[in-house]
Amino acid sequence: MARIIILYSTTDGHTREICCYLQQQIEKSGDEVTLASLNDGPEVDLEAFDKIVIGASIRYGKHNAKVYKFIEENLSVLNKKPNAFFSVNAVARKLEKAQPDTNPYLQKFLKQMEWQPKELAVFAGKIDYQMYRFVDRFMIRFIMWMTKGPTDPNTNIEFTDWSQVDKFAQVIHEM
Ligand SMILES: Cc1cc2nc3c(=O)[nH]c(=O)nc-3n(C[C@H](O)[C@H](O)[C@H](O)COP(=O)(O)O)c2cc1C
Repeated sequence: MARIIILYSTTDGHTREICCYLQQQIEKSGDEVTLASLNDGPEVDLEAFDKIVIGASIRYGKHNAKVYKFIEENLSVLNKKPNAFFSVNAVARKLEKAQPDTNPYLQKFLKQMEWQPKELAVFAGKIDYQMYRFVDRFMIRFIMWMTKGPTDPNTNIEFTDWSQVDKFAQVIHEM
């Protein structure tokens, strides 16, 4: 049995949902999974875990700054243990941008960071226009229009391929 921590950054909750699903799937293999939000500036002792996973969503082209800060502050312990990173974003709905080596946000992340995670994943996110504030709704509809995605203001669509999340749960269990 491994003790695994999944730290996540989310704005509208979808990355958290993916983390909860990962937790459920991984725990079926007998590992123990703890979830912690990076948005709350968690006080966690990473040394207490056997494996570390970090997941973050993209908003206006960026992962949350707290993700970078946390990684920089914990680089040495991260590098000592099996570790993984995943990004959640809307462009990953496009097949040609759905892999770690083809997703522009994940590639940018790897270029920016000293940390080079041992395992990587990209998951397509969720778009629920009615959930967003006016400006955000306007902006993400514009981004969707630019990238040939759905622009109907009543769109509530989950692009996530949960079978990919299943595969990543297995990777985490085995890493
Ligand atoms: C205001 C806003 C801006 C976004 N900007 C981007 C973006 O620049 N690129 C992208 O691929 N996805 C973008 N997305 C899509 C999110 O990454 C997607 O909705 C994801 O599921 C959000 O995860 P979260 O709920 O964990 O924050 C944006 C979403 C919103 C609401």
